Amino acid sequence: MQATARAHPNIALVKYWGKRDTRLNLPAVGSISITLDTLHTTTEVKFDAELTGDSVLLNDKVNVAEAERVIACVDLLREIAGVQTCVEVRSSNNFPTGAGLASSASGFAALVTAVDAALNLKLSKAKLSELARRGSGSAARSIFGGFVEMRLGVESDGSDCVAGPLLDASDWPLAVTVGVVSHAAKDVGSTEGMELTRETSPCYPAWVAEAETDLGIARDAVQEKNFEKLADISEHSCLKMHALAMSAQPGLMYWYGPTVEGIHRVRQLRRAGHAVFFTIDAGPQIKVVSLPDEVDTVTDALNDIGGIRDILRTGLGSGASCD
Ligand code: DP6
Repeated sequence: MQATARAHPNIALVKYWGKRDTRLNLPAVGSISITLDTLHTTTEVKFDAELTGDSVLLNDKVNVAEAERVIACVDLLREIAGVQTCVEVRSSNNFPTGAGLASSASGFAALVTAVDAALNLKLSKAKLSELARRGSGSAARSIFGGFVEMRLGVESDGSDCVAGPLLDASDWPLAVTVGVVSHAAKDVGSTEGMELTRETSPCYPAWVAEAETDLGIARDAVQEKNFEKLADISEHSCLKMHALAMSAQPGLMYWYGPTVEGIHRVRQLRRAGHAVFFTIDAGPQIKVVSLPDEVDTVTDALNDIGGIRDILRTGLGSGASCD
């Protein structure tokens, strides 16, 4: 009753922002992402009848709030297995926390994969995606590698609100270069930020109404491997999500100066004919997606911006799996 699993973080190109059900953590919009390689979370779980309580260590530290979320997710799998055995969870990331690379996505994907193996449940990938989604919406996508679509679904129990693969990483090996602007924890996390936006932004209905159109364009771009088309729709979705967040009350502003400078630099590169585009999540880091032979140009451009603290380079990777 012991297993170790590994999962990679992902970056949304068509963004998820807003929930239609907070209890089941059902998103109000679908999303499309790329799963990264190099960076990963490794999670070890051990169910043991001798244990008198559950314990969770994240990067060798105890974090009560995070442990509650982790155990709530383990409980869903314990219920399916019909067991109450206590568990020891140890999870660590090989990438810097605070680098703006959703560690909750790789974390919950690795967690459900490890627990599934330890309890010998042999659940389908779709079911694991559903369970990972209960931990964190973006985690549903890290069950799969390459290009991934998170479907909105129609069922009220969320059973069809799961992710699925669109295209393998090896079929279109894009590169991702992350310009880390700040290592500080963000003031307003995604969960809280998207709820505030749903409750207060006058733009929220338009965001939800346009989501299917954006997803259709991005899906076609991925299937056609059309970089320009994917670049246009990804930058549009990113800017629209941030405009939406800014229109909440009080407004959410995730960018710092170097983030804005990064947007301008990437746009200059695009205008000069380079195959690059930017995306930004709920934090200040600028993520640049490009063809692999553009990585040195992108790194030079980011290095040139005062205020970029770190640069991480990665490609596209595989879905969650057991060691
Ligand atoms: C901006 O998946 O972290 O990264 O479901 O509340 O855990 P919860 O939110 P989370 O939100 C991700 C928001 C985003 C966009 C995205 O990944 O699609």
